[in-house]
Amino acid sequence: MKKYHFFWQFILLTGFSLTSPIALSADEVKVGVMLPATGTYARLGSNIQKGFKLYVEEQGGKLAGRDIKFVNVDSEGNPSKAVDNVNKLIKQHDVDVLVGSVHSGVAMAMAKAAKSSGKLMIVPNAGANQVTGPFCGVNIYRTSFSSWQTGYAAGEAMGAKGFKKVVTITWKYGAGQQMVEGFKEAFEKSGGEVIEEMWVPFPKVEWQAQLTQIAALKPDGVFTFFAGGGAVKFVKDYAAAGLKENFPLYGTGFLTDGTLQGQGEAAEGVMTALHYADDMDVEKDRAFRKAYAKAYNGESPDVYAVQGYDAAQLLDIGLTGANGDPKNVEAFSKAVRSATIDSPRGPFKLSKAHNPIQDFYLREVKGGKNIVVGIAAKALEDPAKGCKLK
Ligand code: PHB
Repeated sequence: MKKYHFFWQFILLTGFSLTSPIALSADEVKVGVMLPATGTYARLGSNIQKGFKLYVEEQGGKLAGRDIKFVNVDSEGNPSKAVDNVNKLIKQHDVDVLVGSVHSGVAMAMAKAAKSSGKLMIVPNAGANQVTGPFCGVNIYRTSFSSWQTGYAAGEAMGAKGFKKVVTITWKYGAGQQMVEGFKEAFEKSGGEVIEEMWVPFPKVEWQAQLTQIAALKPDGVFTFFAGGGAVKFVKDYAAAGLKENFPLYGTGFLTDGTLQGQGEAAEGVMTALHYADDMDVEKDRAFRKAYAKAYNGESPDVYAVQGYDAAQLLDIGLTGANGDPKNVEAFSKAVRSATIDSPRGPFKLSKAHNPIQDFYLREVKGGKNIVVGIAAKALEDPAKGCKLK
């Protein structure tokens, strides 16, 4: 009797009730966002977040009936801080879902933490092949691409255009290395040859010596991966060195996506392969662009915004299948694996390893836009080497 008396007294005195904010917080899904807010990839991280938030706001701030609460850490695009950062999200904040990252090295640390903790993870950019290869998992998903996919598509495009001798230049870390590998696989099939591979330490932007060497080697063309701030500078330096007219510049689409304002005239005519473009003939994209511009002061979205938007869509589909319970990974997985994601890039499905199966467009920069001029690779699926998911 006495026990119950104290219980009610406690309720009255503290104002604590079963519908108090403490009880309500159990209805939240905590999304741990680990993206760069500083460094060469800062803008990419910001656009991914804008895309993600736009989708959540379109659903009234709730997915599968649950409030979405964001916990952010700045990844700085720095793999050496990634383990500490992801542990902060998991151990300190006990997030339900990990979203990140941009940099392949950071995403690898996150995937390892997702594997050992069993937390859901959605990758809205980083292309590390291993994430949907040997590190794949029932709880790990990607709404962007694998690095192999983007390189392979560009290799097909340059092969089809009849290039024979090509120089590659990129940052020396996982993403650049895997994009060059994918590129070579497709390009060599067409009888092409990479006559020189050039590497720049990440995130450095000094390449004058390599530009001089390109002029001396006289290749048919150049294939490259740079992104964000580095891509802006590379495209400008390449044009300023007088190379653009003589040695056509190709790249994975990151070279010219979300960067054209900064690159200006120097980017005109640059050719890239990517799973998104400007002025696409996709109804969903028209609606998305309109909503994005309205939400963000008239800004145009880029591929990163699309990947973020689709990461939120994927979370919605999975949570809905799991009745709002992020711990029910099996139900989450079942829903996502059978879904078609209605992306602004066009609808896509995930492979068994949870990587998008998608078309890659050949784009040319014209009038400050990435315009589709052909298909680089149709319904391209990452081979998911080393993934045991069935
Ligand atoms: C990566 O590190 O995987 C990466 C970073 C930036 C991009 C694409 C891939 O634009």
